Amino acid sequence: MEHKGFTVWFTGLSGAGKTTLANALEPVLRERGLKVEKLDGDVIRTNLSKGLGFSKDDRDTNIRRIAFVCDLLTRNGVAVITSAISPYRDIREEARQMIGSFVEVYVRCSIEELSRRDVKGLYAKALAGEIKNFTGVSDPYEEPVNPEVVVDSERETIEESLEKVVSRLEELGYLPRVEALSPATA
Ligand code: ADX
Repeated sequence: MEHKGFTVWFTGLSGAGKTTLANALEPVLRERGLKVEKLDGDVIRTNLSKGLGFSKDDRDTNIRRIAFVCDLLTRNGVAVITSAISPYRDIREEARQMIGSFVEVYVRCSIEELSRRDVKGLYAKALAGEIKNFTGVSDPYEEPVNPEVVVDSERETIEESLEKVVSRLEELGYLPRVEALSPATA
């Protein structure tokens, strides 16, 4: 049976855990027999969106390109996982309308915790005023109003967050439930 494609759209601040969750989700989807493609924000910015900056216009262009590719893949039965900040609600909504089979996952984390983690050292710079238009510090992040899933990377383990995403995909009918192996009863 041909599987129906869908896009899992991770959104959230830089360093919140979008890529980590995307990487954890990928093998789970593969194990269920799906074809999977990942579109990671940082990777996209080194090729498809190379040269774009972080103005609203450039971010919108970046997200529209990602959404365009997600749509192509989704229509062809692929399970697509994307992880870009995608800070603006209107463009995420545009992506949802275009793609249709769209599962928005908000990866929540406070600025305090992100500054503590600061894996890339960007929050220290942004808070010191050295990076202008830095999302969550000197540039907006518009939280999703009605996302399919909210995960909290401050309070949950990766496994807990992943489980939330997987069960929601099952509920929405995108993933066949894995039945526990049990002897035939009939
Ligand atoms: S988006 O806004 O267009 O969706 P995207 O996810 O592609 O952003 O890129 C975000 C990554 O770019 C961050 O994780 C960070 O490493 C880097 N970055 C550099 N400058 C900025 C900035 N001003 N705001 C946010 N992220 C930035």
